[in-house]
Amino acid sequence: ACGRSANQPFCDGSHKAVGMAPMGFTAEKTDTVYLCGCKTSKNAPFCDGSHKAL
Ligand code: FES
Repeated sequence: ACGRSANQPFCDGSHKAVGMAPMGFTAEKTDTVYLCGCKTSKNAPFCDGSHKAL
C-alpha cells in the first residue's frame, strides 16, 4: 500500500518508515486477478484501469 516495498505487491516491512499499514489480501479461490501496481486504483488491491491515465 505504501509503494516502498522492493517485493511488490508483497509487503517487505518498508511501510514502517512512513507510518502506514500493509493491506491484507486473502485469495478466496484459484483464479487470475490483476493487482494494482500503480497505487491509483479506487478498488485496491485490484487494478481498476486507473493506470491508463498515468
Ligand atoms: S495498475 Fe493500478 S489501476 Fe491498474
